Amino acid sequence: MRSIVILISGRGSNMEAIVRAALAERWSARIVAVISNRADASGLEFAAGHGIPTAVIPSKDYPTRDQFDAALREKIDGYAPDLVVLAGFMRILTTPFVDHYRGRMLNIHPSLLPSFPGLATHRQALAAGVKLHGATVHFVTPDLDHGPIVAQACVPVLEDDSEEDLAARVLEQEHVIYPRAVRWFTEGRLALEGARVRLAPAATGVPEVASVIAI
Ligand code: GRF
Repeated sequence: MRSIVILISGRGSNMEAIVRAALAERWSARIVAVISNRADASGLEFAAGHGIPTAVIPSKDYPTRDQFDAALREKIDGYAPDLVVLAGFMRILTTPFVDHYRGRMLNIHPSLLPSFPGLATHRQALAAGVKLHGATVHFVTPDLDHGPIVAQACVPVLEDDSEEDLAARVLEQEHVIYPRAVRWFTEGRLALEGARVRLAPAATGVPEVASVIAI
């Protein structure tokens, strides 16, 4: 059975969506730990309430990124996961850390990458006047918010949208594509081909696509 470690920094709604999907769909994969860099991350409570071991490695206790990443890596590797899932983990990771998990670490970013990497993506989208916005699940590479794309969801940008309206519309779709992408990984259906990710068909033969258009 494949094992997954999820990293969070805050409310952890994506982590929650993944945990719920794993239970509801009876995945043959297990979430073996939820780790936060902040003790006050509210998502820790949900994880503990579902019997998932939790841990906190407080980033503020480490003077350098290298020291923090080394401590985090040691903690993660103690669980020997097949997959590391970044779910609202608000840290820039060092290249050695990212390289250690190359091909086995996923992230979700709240924009249609390669548009709007970085922070405040919904504000960026409104300012740019795009009519479609969304979220992207991708493999993590040392280049921030880049990396081979596993799945994307797109949503409309409406005339009077506030940042919050747009964030809520995108988040709803994050909760659809992230559990799906994680499940595909645990089923061994994702193949990296250079910058591209190929999704192999399910054993059931039911067709699945790596994009959601929530219009
Ligand atoms: C999500 O919008 C995710 O795309 C971004 O940070 C937010 C985390 O939300 N990386 P949550 O902690 O999963 O609720």
